Amino acid sequence: MRELKKILNLGRSFWDAQVLLTAVRLKVFDFLNSFTDAESLADKLKVDARALRMLLDALTSLGILEKKSNIYKNKYKYADFLTSSSDKSVTSILNHYYNMWQDWGNLIESIKTGKSSDNRKKDPEENYHFINGMDNLTKFYKENILSNIDFTSAKKILDIGSGPATYLREMLKKNPTLKGVILDLPQATVVAKEKLRDEGLLNRVDVIEGSLEDKNFGSGYDIVLISQVLHSLKKELCQLAIEKSFGALKKGGKIYIHEFYLNEKRTAPKDNIVFCLNMLLHTDGGDNLTVNEIKDLLSNVGFFISKTILLKKPPTVLIEGTKN
Ligand SMILES: C[S@@+](CC[C@H](N)C(=O)[O-])C[C@H]1O[C@@H](n2cnc3c(N)ncnc32)[C@H](O)[C@@H]1O
Repeated sequence: MRELKKILNLGRSFWDAQVLLTAVRLKVFDFLNSFTDAESLADKLKVDARALRMLLDALTSLGILEKKSNIYKNKYKYADFLTSSSDKSVTSILNHYYNMWQDWGNLIESIKTGKSSDNRKKDPEENYHFINGMDNLTKFYKENILSNIDFTSAKKILDIGSGPATYLREMLKKNPTLKGVILDLPQATVVAKEKLRDEGLLNRVDVIEGSLEDKNFGSGYDIVLISQVLHSLKKELCQLAIEKSFGALKKGGKIYIHEFYLNEKRTAPKDNIVFCLNMLLHTDGGDNLTVNEIKDLLSNVGFFISKTILLKKPPTVLIEGTKN
């Protein structure tokens, strides 16, 4: 019977996901830092009061809100994560999950055709959520990555597929003589530039806007960082990115590949395995790689594999290659 319960719970787990994501989309949590009833909240959000009451009750049953007679409030332990203005907010990444909903609901089509069905909205707000969503996640574990990269004596670093440039911004703050170059698509560099400007770092960073396959990477780098980019690319493009990085590094320079990884049987870690389907839906040929596949991409162009670190939170691998 436990098995039956597991299967049935799994089959309707999208109900719970949609309760949470709809509430985030409506900014429900931004209005529930003090007790409020469904009618006055419905007025503020311009939604139907009866339907909102059902949503708030569902959030209460999921343990995210507390309810006293007919009034509701964010549970303290979740409030910071779900309030958009908080430093701990993860509302961008949850909005990004919401934006993926339609494609996940039609996964069967991609399984039949083998093709992506990218119907995500691509307006500036959704784009901001996608790129800032990376920052939402990375801010909690960035030190796990940074503590394994020796950037203290580096002068110049290239961050390929930099997204919100979370790691680079931290390195620039910790090493005042470091200069950075970010290379990413324009929809990402617009967000990175804003964050770099806000932190007074933009004058230490050059920006290469465009796809890595077309762009000249420059030269003379001590470090090239490629964090969580390879999974979104076709394997040939992964190889090209690493080959161009080899050419751009100084002798003795290091490349760091940070990725979701798969075990060699492609059976674990569970979240990384399921994520492969997300790449099927949303990219042209992207997929997670096994640790050995990533190492091969590095060795193929002449890198010596100098470090391999499996990180637990989140389950990722950091591989250091040296250009001897
Ligand atoms: C998952 S995000 C990772 C962001 C960041 N490196 C991190 O670890 O937080 C992937 C990034 O790769 C970028 N990207 C994907 N394809 C690219 C391409 N062909 N050329 C340059 N950047 C690309 C995306 O725009 C996005 O910013």
